[in-house]
Amino acid sequence: MDAFEPAALGPLRLRNRLIKAATYEGMSPGGVASSALVEHHIGLARGGVGMTTVAYCAVHPGGRTFGDQLQLGPSSRPVLRELVARVHDEGALCSLQLGHAGFFSKLRGPDGRGPRGPSWALNAYGASSGVPLARAMSDADVEAVIEAFGDAAARAAELGFDAVEVHLGHGYLLSQFLSPATNRRQDRWGGSPDRRLALPLAVLERVRRAVGPDRAVLAKTNLADGFAGGLEIEGAIEIARALEASGHVDLLVPSGGFTSRTPFFLLRGGLPLARMAAAQPERLSRLGMRVLGKLILRPYPFEEAFFLPLARQLRAAVSMPVALLGGLVSRASIETARREGFDFVVLGRALLADPDLPTRMARGELERTRCNACNECIAEMDLGGVRCVLE
Ligand SMILES: Cc1cc2nc3c(=O)[nH]c(=O)nc-3n(C[C@H](O)[C@H](O)[C@H](O)COP(=O)(O)O)c2cc1C
Repeated sequence: MDAFEPAALGPLRLRNRLIKAATYEGMSPGGVASSALVEHHIGLARGGVGMTTVAYCAVHPGGRTFGDQLQLGPSSRPVLRELVARVHDEGALCSLQLGHAGFFSKLRGPDGRGPRGPSWALNAYGASSGVPLARAMSDADVEAVIEAFGDAAARAAELGFDAVEVHLGHGYLLSQFLSPATNRRQDRWGGSPDRRLALPLAVLERVRRAVGPDRAVLAKTNLADGFAGGLEIEGAIEIARALEASGHVDLLVPSGGFTSRTPFFLLRGGLPLARMAAAQPERLSRLGMRVLGKLILRPYPFEEAFFLPLARQLRAAVSMPVALLGGLVSRASIETARREGFDFVVLGRALLADPDLPTRMARGELERTRCNACNECIAEMDLGGVRCVLE
């Protein structure tokens, strides 16, 4: 199958078309990359993936979702440099996902200010840590975000990362700007689909300028936010067309869901409430998760290649490279992705469960991952580091 043959991604050449999805590792206490993070990605590279992705790095201390989120400070840099070099030694390439939390945060910024997003918002996620409300960003805040993404991308390139993935999905800052539900501004950053795109496009322009032509830029976007009034597929297609026209992006990685409202839309499958409650640092949020989790967190049944029906529509609307992500758990679904015209396949939980899936599938030794979408790995992120609980 040609998914296991080398392929070009923008200026890069990958040994195959399999990319590890960003799955937050929980291996950067205090924001500092650890040796566990290095070993985790070496394991993935050894398993044969074409490119691995270090997840959800905050572009600025004021854009963190939680305190232990990876940052690119001086203590992280030698560790990340080593991580990239050792992933390269194993024959894989390495991408860094860059994100900004916007209003979805438990933290105040270094200046003591609470979280900010496109418009004021309730921030249930931050209620137990004293930041239940988020304010609207000023023009200066928005300009600072563009610079922060550019600086982080430049740093990533300097550390040797082959690619950066800009997070425009899952209800984080750039997704909040793109969504009609959360961007209620009436200025140059909101009020129409074009203006909601202004910040994400400015960020991508700045990121491309920072990394130059020799690195790849990926954009993880939403196909739908997963709730009424949010982004729907028609809007997602307009966004994809605008990203294509910008010329700054080498690969679109369409996903979906809004972490503050529909977190399991992006995952599907099990709702590991007991373990998620155990992973909450404060007693109040532990109790909240136990009592309210069932009411607030809507489950979605798992289906193989669950984003295909929406992703197919986006695929047909642009001619640039597009990846398929979401529930790719078997050789059959990888083959389907290629047959349907997707350039790359992006796998999250399947590679957490079976890091050597690429090598074993290429040899014909494995048809399907053992991952059963129980989603216990979600809680493991906060219980010592992401891992598959199936032994
Ligand atoms: C444990 C875990 C952590 C995740 N962390 C991130 C993340 O940091 N950034 C991100 O964009 N998506 C994150 N995701 C979502 C995945 O990247 C992916 O979109 C999703 O798991 C669907 O792909 P899959 O069915 O192959 O797992 C995470 C998923 C899991 C299971």
